[in-house]
Amino acid sequence: MNIENFNYSSDSFAAVQWNAGMLTLLDQRKLPNEIVYLDYDSAPAVAEAIRGMVVRGAPAIGITAAYAVVLAARSAWQESSEAWREKIEDDLQLLTDARPTAVNLHWAITEMRKTFDQIEGDPEPVLIELATQIHNDDIAANHEMGRLGAELIAPNSQVITHCNAGALATGGYGTALGVIRNAFNKGLLTKVYASETRPWLQGARLTSWELQQDAIPVNLLIDSAASNLMKSGDINWLIVGADRIAANGDVANKIGTYSHAVAAKFHGVKVMVVAPASTVDMQIESGDQIPIENRATDEITDFNRARIAPNEINALNPAFDITPAKLVDFIVTEKGIVEQPNSEKMLAIFG
Ligand code: MRU
Repeated sequence: MNIENFNYSSDSFAAVQWNAGMLTLLDQRKLPNEIVYLDYDSAPAVAEAIRGMVVRGAPAIGITAAYAVVLAARSAWQESSEAWREKIEDDLQLLTDARPTAVNLHWAITEMRKTFDQIEGDPEPVLIELATQIHNDDIAANHEMGRLGAELIAPNSQVITHCNAGALATGGYGTALGVIRNAFNKGLLTKVYASETRPWLQGARLTSWELQQDAIPVNLLIDSAASNLMKSGDINWLIVGADRIAANGDVANKIGTYSHAVAAKFHGVKVMVVAPASTVDMQIESGDQIPIENRATDEITDFNRARIAPNEINALNPAFDITPAKLVDFIVTEKGIVEQPNSEKMLAIFG
């Protein structure tokens, strides 16, 4: 589809769609220059799409995995109507392993798996219904978080966000961008800044594009300019999403979130983390135990397929970091807001 002909609205827009028995993903590697949709009818191909960043963002990969379980069950059932529960396991493992940090992936597969024992006959109809429910629940949660988060924001505020926690990263509307959308529509925001988010540039390519489509003025800056901007005293909020939140309120999110949060604390900027309950992992005591994905180093030694670092250089490419709970002012979920998070407050809502 040509970008000029694309009719965008954050509510009708979907990074993940289930159409006529097939999964359709908006290829986020191509944005903002091209709108390309890719169709999938096999779970291993979906696992590869998740790993390769066709679809990304914690809730979006959870929803994608839920639909991929439908594809896996279809193929297992075609192989054997007796033993489909055993035959599906390899595909479920591939999906679970596609990306390790966002707990939503694991959560969605576990939710789907819980129905297996009760299914009689063809599993597809039951599983489609549940995957659709997971998708719809995420959209509803985003709208509720958008409402709750915006209530914390005073008029004439300026916010900075990192990575993309918008419609593209979720079932629709977005977590951090849901709050920003709602606050903007209520006239509370005078400026929104997006940091570019090296190396995949989710801020530059995705957040800027999403906000621009909604006519929300956005100012793009490089990641290392964020602390200097906060020093100006004009920024009120750092608002970000999360890939996993531990039982003590520590937050795993896109690499660079931690340094933004340190700078925010230093400069008196409030930190709001916006994430659905499916991102909370009460099995994990603290952020130290959250697995951090290390991606291929050519993502940082090369740029636009051209080498930018000397050959044979050692490089580190962690995709996420942990922001300790003590740097977070609010965790906003659809179940409620946790202010100054700690283990007791988290347990009271998510126990
Ligand atoms: O590597 P990505 O693009 O999947 O990382 C995405 C993020 O870190 C988002 O901030 C997070 O998943 C929340 S999305 C609502």
